[in-house]
Amino acid sequence: MVKSINSRDYNKWRSHFTQGNSLIGFVPTMGALHQGHLYLVQQAKRQCSQVVVSIFINPRQFNDANDLENYPVRLEEDFALLANEGVDFVLAPSAYEIYPVGDTSSLDMSSYLHLAQGLEGDRRPGHFQGVVDVVSRLLNIVKPQKMYLGKKDYQQLKVLEAMVRKEKFSIDVVGVPTQRASTGLALSSRNALLSEEGRASASQIYEALQCAKASALHGDDSDMACAKGKAFLQSAEGVKEEYFLIANRHTMSVNEVGNPKEWVIFCAAYVEGVRLIDNVEVFD
Ligand code: PAF
Repeated sequence: MVKSINSRDYNKWRSHFTQGNSLIGFVPTMGALHQGHLYLVQQAKRQCSQVVVSIFINPRQFNDANDLENYPVRLEEDFALLANEGVDFVLAPSAYEIYPVGDTSSLDMSSYLHLAQGLEGDRRPGHFQGVVDVVSRLLNIVKPQKMYLGKKDYQQLKVLEAMVRKEKFSIDVVGVPTQRASTGLALSSRNALLSEEGRASASQIYEALQCAKASALHGDDSDMACAKGKAFLQSAEGVKEEYFLIANRHTMSVNEVGNPKEWVIFCAAYVEGVRLIDNVEVFD
């Protein structure tokens, strides 16, 4: 496995080790890798001839300076995990590589801004602008044929699909199902900040989502399905709801949710002061 902090090395590797029929699968990450990330890598390994992973903690997508400061950095452990998965190239660029001094340009998101509003977009101003900026810059370096993203960050997946279309990157975006602990808790780097008890409490987020999903499948309307999920969450010990909402999977609208086949149920909640997000599709 080759690792490098600059795009020059990547370009050299790419021109030596890939040919006309190579299929490069790309997994962008911010490091502190867990089984959910490794599952993305495994999917890429199955479908592509080479797999490239980036590790870059993107300052532009943090609206909270504390969150950025406390973001876990475990580069050596991450490299070992990726080598073990048979990753071909890990790009861990410096901030200057991605954002050269004086380059403050940002992508124009106006044609898909609606996807980045509501849900996480409302709670984290500027977050999705930072995400599209960094991913477009990484795609320009890596030039993959496929990019793998987890459905746990569902809204991010929708925003990035739209960015890829708008910027005319000719790649497939592959949305990969959320990986869960046996309790149902969605795998996330933030779970490491929870005690064992906290992790047990956090698994009730998934139960609440399942409760709302069962209600939707039973024929309840979206308000009723949400009310049932919320009621479950409110009775859950150690979990403080931030939002519990149904949105349309194509538009991310929470006001016009459309047909139940298009519903995704979203939840953000705090457990032991740690902010967690999760979602389930009503029909997956
Ligand atoms: O999901 C993430 O880890 C990040 O938002 C991403 C896609 C790597 C961009 O920094």
